[in-house]
Amino acid sequence: MFVAPARSPALYRNRAGRYRARMPTHSLFPTLVYSERLGGAGSRDLDARLLDEALHLRDEDRAGQGWSRLNYPGGYTSYNSLCRMQQISPTFARLERLLAPHVRRFARALDFDLRGRPLAMTDCWVNIMPRGVVHSLHLHPLATISGTYYVRTPKGSAGLKFEDPRLDRFMAAPPRRAAARARSRGWVTLPAEAGRLVLFESWLRHEVPPNPSRSERVSVSFNYSWF
Ligand code: NI
Repeated sequence: MFVAPARSPALYRNRAGRYRARMPTHSLFPTLVYSERLGGAGSRDLDARLLDEALHLRDEDRAGQGWSRLNYPGGYTSYNSLCRMQQISPTFARLERLLAPHVRRFARALDFDLRGRPLAMTDCWVNIMPRGVVHSLHLHPLATISGTYYVRTPKGSAGLKFEDPRLDRFMAAPPRRAAARARSRGWVTLPAEAGRLVLFESWLRHEVPPNPSRSERVSVSFNYSWF
């Protein structure tokens, strides 16, 4: 019996109107990472304010200075001291408002069914990385979506390096070609660019390699949880 080619899922019609075989492989269980410029009303002078407040925190936050000395050598982070900046600073609250549509968009891309419960920012902290400072491989426990907004990224600033979450199951897997597509690589680094944000699911391991830039790289990191 003749089956019209158009009905066959194994075929598609190209621009010239010819039927061609589809690739017989499927891309299943993708790992989505969102990267976009912040944008939105009032975002232009936000970086200057965030930078100013970040530098003040570094000077004034004694608890954070002590914690950073032990856990973030050479740099400053308010991760363990002032980690809910969106609740105490109008500048960070503004950042939270501008991030909200991006988080909603990312949740849609992930096909999350939030069932009427909010995906809300729980933590928001500052990171200042002078030259050579590292943030080693980690994930963000007890959160759903995490991300970073870049405030100041001098030329050559270290990017954000993601690791394939299936890496521990790669038994006898051949290495990837040098020209492999990003989706096939074991590690992918997204560049750090001031005014841009990156979002990812909180279980995805990532790191900031040693920062090679001459001056300080400044960013704001945050977690969202599903309540
Ligand atoms: Ni992180």
